[in-house]
Amino acid sequence: MLFEQIATGGCQSYLVGCTDTFAAALIDPELSQLDHYLALAAHHGVRLRYLIDTHTHADHFSATRELARQLGLPVVMHRASPAPFVDMRIGDGEMVALGKLRLQALHTPGHTADSMCLRVGDRVFTGDTLLIGGTGRTDLPSGDPRALHDSLFNRLLKLDPALLVYPAHDYKGRSHSTIGDEIASNPRLQKRDVGEFVQMMDNLNLTMPTHITEALRTNMSGGKTVARLLAEAGASVPFMSLEELKARVEAAEDDLIVLDVRERDAYEAGHIPGARLLPRGQLELRVNQDLPDPTRRILTCCELGYISTLAAATLRSMGFMRAVALDGGMKAWREGGYALKAGREPS
Ligand SMILES: [Fe+2]
Repeated sequence: MLFEQIATGGCQSYLVGCTDTFAAALIDPELSQLDHYLALAAHHGVRLRYLIDTHTHADHFSATRELARQLGLPVVMHRASPAPFVDMRIGDGEMVALGKLRLQALHTPGHTADSMCLRVGDRVFTGDTLLIGGTGRTDLPSGDPRALHDSLFNRLLKLDPALLVYPAHDYKGRSHSTIGDEIASNPRLQKRDVGEFVQMMDNLNLTMPTHITEALRTNMSGGKTVARLLAEAGASVPFMSLEELKARVEAAEDDLIVLDVRERDAYEAGHIPGARLLPRGQLELRVNQDLPDPTRRILTCCELGYISTLAAATLRSMGFMRAVALDGGMKAWREGGYALKAGREPS
C-alpha cells in the first residue's frame, strides 16, 4: 500500500494508493495544501480516484470540493453528510474499491452525525472519532456524546488492538497510535460508563474553533471561502503599486481613471487627487453612465485593497479590459504620506 501522511498545522490528511494498479485516494484533504497533494500523487506516479472526507469539518477548509472540480473526481462521504456536492454517499460496512485495496467505512457518529472511520489493511483512519490521547469534541453541530460513546466502545474499540490509528488531527506532531494503546492510555477512554462519559464530554469547556462559521458554511455547501473569492479575483486582474500610481498622479496622466470604490464619507475625508467616487455597492448600476469608454485604463482603490480587487475583477468581467487594482489601499497610501484631497472633485 502506498501511504503518505500530510500534516497541516494540527490537521492530518492522507494519500493512500494501490501499488499494483496505482489508483489512489485522498482522505481529509485541506484547502491550503491543494498543490502539495497533486505534487505528491505525481511524485508517486499514482492517479487519484476518490476524494474522501471522514466527516463535515468545522475547523478547517476541506479541499475535496475544489479538487473534485479541478480533476473531475467523485467526493465520497457518509450518507448522513449534509453537503449537496457529495457524489458517492456510503453507508456502514460498505467499501470504496481502490485498485486492489478496499477502504471499508465504519459509521461512527458522535463528533458529527456523518462521522465515519475507514479501515484498510493494517490501519484505520479514525477521522475525529478517535484521536491520539483524545476524541473529537461533541459540542459542535450534530455532535452527540452518547453516540460517540456507542461508536467508540461498541464499535471502534472492538476492532483488532493491533490496528494502527491514523486520526484527522494531532496537535503534538505524533503520526499514529494503535487501538490497543488508546484503550490503555487515552484519558478520554477511561470513563467507560455512558453517564460518566457524557458528563465528561459535556464539561470540556472548549473554545470554539477559529473560522467555525466559515468552515461549516463552505464545507457543508461547497461555497467559497472569503480568501478563495479574493484569490480568484486577484488572479484575474493586474495590480499597480502605490509608488507607480503616485508618479502617475503627480504627472497628471489623463489616460488613467482612478476610481475610489469606498463610500462617500470615506472618500470626502481624503482621496487620491483626481480620483472619482463610485462606491462598490453601486458599481454595476452606474458603470454605463460613469465609465462610457471600456478602452480606458481604470485603477480601483479602496481602504485595504480587497474590495478594490473585487471591483477590478467585476469591471474586467464586464468588458473593461484595462481595469487594474491598487496593490494596497488608501490606508497604505495615507501611511506612505502621499498626497490626499478632501471634499469633492470638480465634476
Ligand atoms: Fe472534525
